[in-house]
Amino acid sequence: MNGRQEPEDTGSSRQASVLWAGRLTEKPAEDAFAFQSSIAVDQRLAQDDIRGSRAHVAMLSAQGIIPAGTAEALDAELARISGELEEGSLAIDPGAEDIHSFIEGVLTARLGDPGRMVHAGRSRNDQVALDLRLYLRRTLPELRAELARTVFVLLDRAEEHAASVMPGYTHLQRAQPVSLGHWLCAWACALGRDWERLGDALGRLDECPLGSGALAGSTLPLDREAVAKALGFGRPSLNSMDSVADRDFALEIAAACAIIQTHLSRFCEDMVIWSSEESGFVDLGEAWSTGSSIMPQKKNPDFAELIRGKAGRSAGNLMTLLTLLKGLPYAYDKDLQEDKEALFDSLDTAQSCLRIFRGMTAAARFNTGRMEAACTGGFLEATDAAEYLVKKGLPFRKAHQTVALIVRDCIAAGQRSITQRSLEELRKYSPLFDGDLYPSLSPPQALRARGLPGGPAPQELNRQIRILRGKLGG
Ligand code: ARG
Repeated sequence: MNGRQEPEDTGSSRQASVLWAGRLTEKPAEDAFAFQSSIAVDQRLAQDDIRGSRAHVAMLSAQGIIPAGTAEALDAELARISGELEEGSLAIDPGAEDIHSFIEGVLTARLGDPGRMVHAGRSRNDQVALDLRLYLRRTLPELRAELARTVFVLLDRAEEHAASVMPGYTHLQRAQPVSLGHWLCAWACALGRDWERLGDALGRLDECPLGSGALAGSTLPLDREAVAKALGFGRPSLNSMDSVADRDFALEIAAACAIIQTHLSRFCEDMVIWSSEESGFVDLGEAWSTGSSIMPQKKNPDFAELIRGKAGRSAGNLMTLLTLLKGLPYAYDKDLQEDKEALFDSLDTAQSCLRIFRGMTAAARFNTGRMEAACTGGFLEATDAAEYLVKKGLPFRKAHQTVALIVRDCIAAGQRSITQRSLEELRKYSPLFDGDLYPSLSPPQALRARGLPGGPAPQELNRQIRILRGKLGG
């Protein structure tokens, strides 16, 4: 297997796809070659690579760098390869070095010299930067659509439960009454931001790196504007070194995916807690649970747990990319080849988790009776009682102390709500208490009273839902 690369290679062997063999008299051993190959990961860029090559070839011809007839033959062959890959009649050679080498190798094997003209004015460095951008510009809208569908399920369920009162928690201690709809809408807000974040990242992907070459552009009269336009980019990238070295977009998108996963994970954490016997707020249903191989009675929230667990790999992928980039000398280094596995895994993970999350959330049966019952007996009305006194003119700090004292005395007396005290008793703490206190402290009334913008009152919640639907176009 040692020796020089021969120009008439067939394109189907390991040697054939080596584009750089001219300089080197020895080849890496088979395992070393396989070690530096990226075809297993970057083969998903095949169609993007072909698209980029077709635009490049058209430009080379328009600029008189290659003959028009050659460009036509190349374009027809690239289109054919694209179709064959699509239908599966051309298999990607797992022994190729990377997707760029593979496609150039096939072109050359089929066309001879015209295939050898395709790489004029181009390096795999700007080629891979282009392919990644093309791939992301085609797949991010799918991920955003997945996010939007998920937000709509959350909003449907929020609407359904706009008046389902439940305890809101801080420190996992019962805090104040909210509604299940309010909680669901909170998660729609978070995923709505993720949708926006990916939109921002897409905006910054709107620059075409092709024409940057290895790092220093080219002495050939390339038309970067025309290629950028042909590929649907707003403009060519500004600086050729930046273009081949930059992976900010990968970082940004990996960060956006890690944030998506963090959101899903936190939601799922509540699902896991809520599906416990102790909480009983939700029944995830049999289709969204799994059993135990030893304990016959078990119904476990495995899907929620697995989504929570996968947040770890997404955070890890972001760390991989940050660490990969932090010490790289300018401009391109082969380390950058490692970017794709982490980035693709983050995208795949987000896509599959969103799909499963959506199904699970749509099917969840919330136990609203149990939620409402949990609103009484934990002094969730205490803040409202203090605000009642504030409305009657008492300074808030004094009102807070007064109600704290009542709570302490209630606990000492085995009472679980300040409404268990008679008006006469309450007046001993403050003469400002009146009979209208009691109805104002009932959980449904406490919910209705929270109509401030952002609050959980059903009417206000419906406004929030409308705004989110409008923003995501649903
Ligand atoms: N497979 C490489 C990557 O993913 C393509 C660029 C190779 N460039 C190079 N100079 N070795 O980054």
